[in-house]
Amino acid sequence: MSGIDRREFLKVFAASAGCFALSAASVPFTSNMAQAATPAGRYHFPQGLASGDPQTDSVMLWTRVVPVRGDADAAAMPVAEIIDLVVQVAEDEGFSRLVVERDVKAGPESDHTVRVLVDGLHPDSIYYYRFIAGSDVVPLAGRTRTAPEQSNRRPVRYAFLCCQNYEQGFYGALRRLVNDDIAAEPKDQIEFVLHLGDFIYEHTGDVPDTETPARKVGPMPFGSEPWVPDGTRPWWQAGGQAPITLADYRFLYKTYLMDPDLQAARARFPFIHTWDDHEFTNDCWQSHDTYFGDGSPAQVRKLAANQSWFEYIPAMLSDAGAFSGVGSEAHDFRAASVKNAPMGAPDENLLRQDPDNLKALGSLTIYRAFSWGAMLDLVITDLRSYRSEPVMSSEVKVLAKGAPVPPVRLVKLLDAGRDANDGNPPEMLTYGDKSIANPRRQSPPGSHMGGPQKAWFKSAMKASKARWRIWASSVPALSMRLDFSSLPFAGLETGYIGTDGWQGYPHELKELMGFLKEEKICNVISCAGDYHTHAAGRLPVDPDGASLSYAAVEFVTTGISSGSMYAGAERASKSSNFFRRMVLIEDGKEVRENFNNTVVNGIRTGIITNYTNSPTVGAMFRNDRASPGLSFLDSHSHGYGVATLMEDKMIVELVNVGDVSQDAGPDGAPILRRTRFDVVSWDENDEPQISEPEFVGIPAFPHMPTSA
Ligand SMILES: [Fe+2]
Repeated sequence: MSGIDRREFLKVFAASAGCFALSAASVPFTSNMAQAATPAGRYHFPQGLASGDPQTDSVMLWTRVVPVRGDADAAAMPVAEIIDLVVQVAEDEGFSRLVVERDVKAGPESDHTVRVLVDGLHPDSIYYYRFIAGSDVVPLAGRTRTAPEQSNRRPVRYAFLCCQNYEQGFYGALRRLVNDDIAAEPKDQIEFVLHLGDFIYEHTGDVPDTETPARKVGPMPFGSEPWVPDGTRPWWQAGGQAPITLADYRFLYKTYLMDPDLQAARARFPFIHTWDDHEFTNDCWQSHDTYFGDGSPAQVRKLAANQSWFEYIPAMLSDAGAFSGVGSEAHDFRAASVKNAPMGAPDENLLRQDPDNLKALGSLTIYRAFSWGAMLDLVITDLRSYRSEPVMSSEVKVLAKGAPVPPVRLVKLLDAGRDANDGNPPEMLTYGDKSIANPRRQSPPGSHMGGPQKAWFKSAMKASKARWRIWASSVPALSMRLDFSSLPFAGLETGYIGTDGWQGYPHELKELMGFLKEEKICNVISCAGDYHTHAAGRLPVDPDGASLSYAAVEFVTTGISSGSMYAGAERASKSSNFFRRMVLIEDGKEVRENFNNTVVNGIRTGIITNYTNSPTVGAMFRNDRASPGLSFLDSHSHGYGVATLMEDKMIVELVNVGDVSQDAGPDGAPILRRTRFDVVSWDENDEPQISEPEFVGIPAFPHMPTSA
């Protein structure tokens, strides 16, 4: 995560305190290590295979093949050999009814990854695929499916997930998703997986001092040989590394993809991806990192990140077709030569005009849209490459040093730039008895999408004719705040829990929600990730308006394995008795997670619930505008979401598998709870509504069953 990770929480509270092929259904479980056993044969496929971005008649297939040399390590020497492969696509698991058989080549220029666009397929059909090199066959055959035609009005089911830090946990949630799907009736099976980013975590060693890494990545050796990954040491953890070169990023993808649970999920489902920050650098914007202070230009790293993503993620980009008459700007990776240079002056969209920044960003464009029958149009955004510089600069952080979290007031003033206060931005910014000159007084408002992507997003939303418009947003648009201003004695301001997502760009979010409302675009659902918490709620046009009018619904999925929001809050609150009461309740017998309660219902409710140990009493002090629009939080969580789209309603299950610090093995992680929501489809005369949560398993505190 970026928005509210461990370091962020420390900052938050610091101020106050074939015959050879096996189907995905029968994959044998192997040791969950990044170094695979040496296989027999001449070639092998240590990263498995995958399919992506299915259309009605085509899908992108992917694998990586290398010679068997007894060095299946992700850091192995690259090889120069060009390897001849055959890809087969069949209608049956036994590969007796082949529909495609094609020769492809894998070479060093793509790190021996191959992307094969297979077309001529039938719509709404399941296919099986595999790769063969000489007499060696990929051990786990793949299964994929094509999209239904636009006239098809049957229900659609998909999963959405994100955030799979390899060192912070195992991928038992993915194995659970696969196993449940194998056991499900065909009509109830998942059709695709929407991956919302943080597929890799670019820096290693980000594991709390109090915890043992689930498993280790690397090391990325500091080598003198040109092929050796040469990560640098970031400041946050001795021994941790961050990548610089293409070899470093390739090394990370290779390591992550040696996980058998991840391989099984990629073999079972087609994936549709966007990225978040960690495919490049933590909390990145444009070609800029944020490792030290306000960060540094990192065009070389951005270019390497883009190339490696393109090599390892099967996405249809240059091949993406028009969507409801809206063309796609997406395109395949284009090689470029860049250097790390000052980012230059911003244009009106706040895109920095340094040629190296423009070349690095222009090397790969991934925002795109797909249709999936009559039920679903999918609008996939890139919220990292074009976002303006974050407003919480080190200068502003010094100003607001006494604030437990970035104050909403300051962030909104800064983000609005010259448009603040109806075009009369303040000359000075104040916090307590300190003030600084307003650094954004002359600037255009901040932008999260950048101008061209925003125009495309609006036209795609407007052109969509499907029953539902699903917005794949890597970061949440839902408010998650701590309402300190509700405490009468503290003299503190309400602030955002993290500003690395839409909360750092409230002006543009208001513009987009206003656009949906004005254009009468209904049934828009944002599926988001990044915050390492499950969450649900509605997106108001103006979260701070006199009354709330809603434009869309959002479901946020927690991480597959990355440290949870609750775990970050729990650690950060250890030094403060007051904050700790907001985060948890210890009554001598058990620990109850109070943080969901505090964020959704407000700090007074959280504190009073703690003192009384009674959610009922706490609820009497509820602030229904604590986090405007947010209705549910399950912050102590790992897992994924499953969405079912029907003509009259959408059902979303947020699945929490609990602890993932241990390898769950072939059975997959057990489920702690499933939380179900219904959203009835709405038209321009209605406001979107979201049902109360229904739980299977242990309810998330404080949603206690009335019989308890
Ligand atoms: Fe993440």
